[in-house]
Amino acid sequence: MKKNFFVTTPIYYPSGNLHIGHAYTTTLADTISRYKKENGYDVFFLTGSDEHGQKIEQKAKENNLEPKQYVDQIVKGFINLWKILDIDYDRFIRTTDEDHIFAVREIFSDLLQKDLIYPSSYKGKYCISCEEFLTSEQMDENLQHLVCGNKAIDFEEETYMLRVSNFQKYLQELFKTDFLEPEARKKEMLNNFINNDLEDLSVTRVSFNWGIQIKENPKHVIYVWLDALSNYITALGYKTKDESLLKKFWSKDSEVLQIIGKEITRFHSIYWTVMLNSLGLKTPDKLLSHGWILSGDKKMSKSIGNVLDPVEIINNYSSDALRFYIINNLPTDKDGNFTNELFIESFNNNLANNIGNLISRVSNMIIKYFDGKLNKIDVSSHWLVKKGFETIKEYKKLMDSYNMSEATQVVLRLGQECNKFIEDSKPWVLEKEQKIDQLLEVLTVLQKNIIIISYLLKPILVKSYPSMIKQMGLNPNLITFENIEGDFDHEKITEKLVLFERIK
Ligand code: ME8
Ligand code: MG
Repeated sequence: MKKNFFVTTPIYYPSGNLHIGHAYTTTLADTISRYKKENGYDVFFLTGSDEHGQKIEQKAKENNLEPKQYVDQIVKGFINLWKILDIDYDRFIRTTDEDHIFAVREIFSDLLQKDLIYPSSYKGKYCISCEEFLTSEQMDENLQHLVCGNKAIDFEEETYMLRVSNFQKYLQELFKTDFLEPEARKKEMLNNFINNDLEDLSVTRVSFNWGIQIKENPKHVIYVWLDALSNYITALGYKTKDESLLKKFWSKDSEVLQIIGKEITRFHSIYWTVMLNSLGLKTPDKLLSHGWILSGDKKMSKSIGNVLDPVEIINNYSSDALRFYIINNLPTDKDGNFTNELFIESFNNNLANNIGNLISRVSNMIIKYFDGKLNKIDVSSHWLVKKGFETIKEYKKLMDSYNMSEATQVVLRLGQECNKFIEDSKPWVLEKEQKIDQLLEVLTVLQKNIIIISYLLKPILVKSYPSMIKQMGLNPNLITFENIEGDFDHEKITEKLVLFERIK
């Protein structure tokens, strides 16, 4: 039976254009999705936009537009960004989609009937920018939210509440498993929220209109987070006539990976798992909560305005260059930096000087010394070929545990070994001394390793991969994890190629 894999990103607010932070999460998801497909998985990759709530209503007003008109225009930009960044999702869900709205109402009614939601009232502090109720630990002395710097408002409303407090034991047990990564985030959630008088959550609002009205009491609209979190299952048809995608991708037969930024860990690890448990659905197999891209020492964010535009970076350089920086230079367990200088330095060191240089040197020598095609010989027991095979195993292990940055670095090290092997074995001397057998061996070993390197970078370097492989005389669609260690029939190559030209 084919294995199934479901990967999700947060659905982003169309309260402004997306920036590098959003490109980060989505590129992680796209890369792992492509990797899983190479491994024979049936993959469903979900992303989208989170269009309701008070913040969006305010933004639309500022722009003198109806909320729907306002978000329509911003969401066009999301879709364009994903297109030029080679993001190959299976569905882009909008929380204004009719099937989603229908299913969210059903979810609300279901939880109300089960008495897990009850009518009440709530008083507290609220951050509109993050659409989040805040505890006193989350604000400074001026009542500014520590994450975004915006001032919290007083919130006092008639509202329906979700009985989160009933789930303390459940959450404490869940947090003993390894569903949430990294480990440090678990302690934070346990200390700040779960073990420390876990409160019920207000899940409807009456003071504005831009949200999904509940059937039971139409002056209430559903809290934007209850609406948004539901997207992960409504996108698969939950509570609709056709639940086949849900059965396939949100079940014990499927591996579920949800990737988020660390500031929304509370919503996903606590409220979302409570919702899932209440609905009788499994928790995600892995919730990967990655660090922030900083600008200076602050989180890069729309509300602060210290952002870099991915569209500009893609237009100035390339989608592959951006994808590569994200995966290689931003390990998910830390906060990271994105500046033009770091970006160019990484591109030049890794793609131009290491990988690009290796491919052009080797292909040029194959053209020059062997007229573009090497005679078949067996090099499978050569130490550097063995090293290449070991690299595949190491890479897979790291990718399977979602350490994509480390996995990439293992591949880059193989590239360095190959470049060093060229220096050490001096093919130009072998040619001069007419040691043709040795020369053939050296180039065959290098060619084999370039195929490995290219294939392992395929989920990242989406646009460049075909040229990399063609330069080894092969059809890009030929190679798989199953056949990569075997022999191929190579075509003759004739053209020199400069890949990843140095950025000045
Ligand atoms: O929170 N560094 O949407 P949002 C790393 N609609 N990642 C970043 C980042 C940064 N500086 N800035 C943004 C929402 N991100 C809700 C989500 S999900 C049911 C609802 C990424 O537009 C990261 O994935 O504020 C973060 O969690 C997300 O964008 C927040 O996007
Ligand atoms: Mg945010």
